[in-house]
Amino acid sequence: MLHTLERLPDDPILGLAAACRADPNPDKVDLTVGIYMDEDGVCPVFGAIRDAQRALVEEETSKAYLPPAGDPDFNTGMRALVFGGDSGALADGRVSSLAAPGGCGALRIGAEIARVASPEAKVWVSDPTWPVHMPLIGSVGLEFEKYRYYDAPSHGVDFDGMVEDLKRAKSGDLVLLHGCCHNPCGADLTLEQWGVIAELAERQGFLPFIDIAYQGLGDGLEADAAGLRLLAERLPEMIVAASCSKNMGLYRERTGIAQFLCRDAGNAEAILSQAKVAARRIYSMPPAHGALLAGRVLAAPALEAAWRDELHTMCLRINGLREALVEKLEATTGRDFAFIRREKGMFSFLGLSEEQTRRLREEYSVYMLGSSRINVAGINAANIDYVADAVARVIA
Ligand SMILES: Cc1ncc(COP(=O)(O)O)c(C=O)c1O
Repeated sequence: MLHTLERLPDDPILGLAAACRADPNPDKVDLTVGIYMDEDGVCPVFGAIRDAQRALVEEETSKAYLPPAGDPDFNTGMRALVFGGDSGALADGRVSSLAAPGGCGALRIGAEIARVASPEAKVWVSDPTWPVHMPLIGSVGLEFEKYRYYDAPSHGVDFDGMVEDLKRAKSGDLVLLHGCCHNPCGADLTLEQWGVIAELAERQGFLPFIDIAYQGLGDGLEADAAGLRLLAERLPEMIVAASCSKNMGLYRERTGIAQFLCRDAGNAEAILSQAKVAARRIYSMPPAHGALLAGRVLAAPALEAAWRDELHTMCLRINGLREALVEKLEATTGRDFAFIRREKGMFSFLGLSEEQTRRLREEYSVYMLGSSRINVAGINAANIDYVADAVARVIA
């Protein structure tokens, strides 16, 4: 029976990255996949993670399964990182959490729980959103509806459109929100706008489902979680899927966590039991290695401080690159690129047509998505002039 299945096309993003790797042009530039790269074009291992790993290798005496909810240090540390150490909801035991295989695994567990609680739920997603959201969440059988989000002409959030659309979200629906550093557009909500979303959620009874995969890479660890924390203060319930891929550099270790803000501690415990059962029917147990490293970093003040410093340096570098890119692009094209400075995290749309991105790829070996989404962290001092010149040539 297997012979009846056809070959499927490669993932569009990973396919472009593979094409870039195969490109013999020594000047090629890869701005495709969302991984942090340093000035040398390397995706580095954090020093704090390396130290935690050395200690773990020395001290680990067993590879037996972790408890089904994951490593306790990891869960405690991540709850505080996301909700804030002084969170009232945490103090009241209203947040339960389950370690998961990456942010993707956490999104899937969140969707599984939502499907059990509200089988007819619609999931409202921003237009555009990260394309992986659809298969990941849709495969549990939930339907999608889009809300307006990115306004290409103004390079900002169409907040009036978003609110108008979300007025149709009902009690029992989920509204998927990017906690910070929106992927793919980099345009984030202001704190005031998060407040409006909280009011809407309160009034209409929809459940916010927050995907936070870039905490610390926009304006810093606390500022990037401020919107989510505002919702947590005002709302009885929320689902959060957090990832340690980017902000701890644990991509391949598949380290993430599903967190559930519940009405009371008893309900939080009930939801955790549901989440464990959901995980059991998909993959059983959470991966250990990345979570043990992250747990060690978050539980040891010296390691945590070192990690925060490294992350802060990355964040500053990305924001410096945004600044530099605006200057270079404006100088080579004579156009306004100031929006790149206002956007957050690793991504921005350059505002190019698909044809222009094809020319960039084929004539200059500058690889970005057809939507002109770039990974800002793929820019460095050695390639920024080349990229800005190539962009100027294709839009001339
Ligand atoms: C918006 C968004 N959510 C979630 C993730 C989850 O990443 P991972 O499963 O690698 O932790 C990513 C990764 O690129 C992402 O961009």
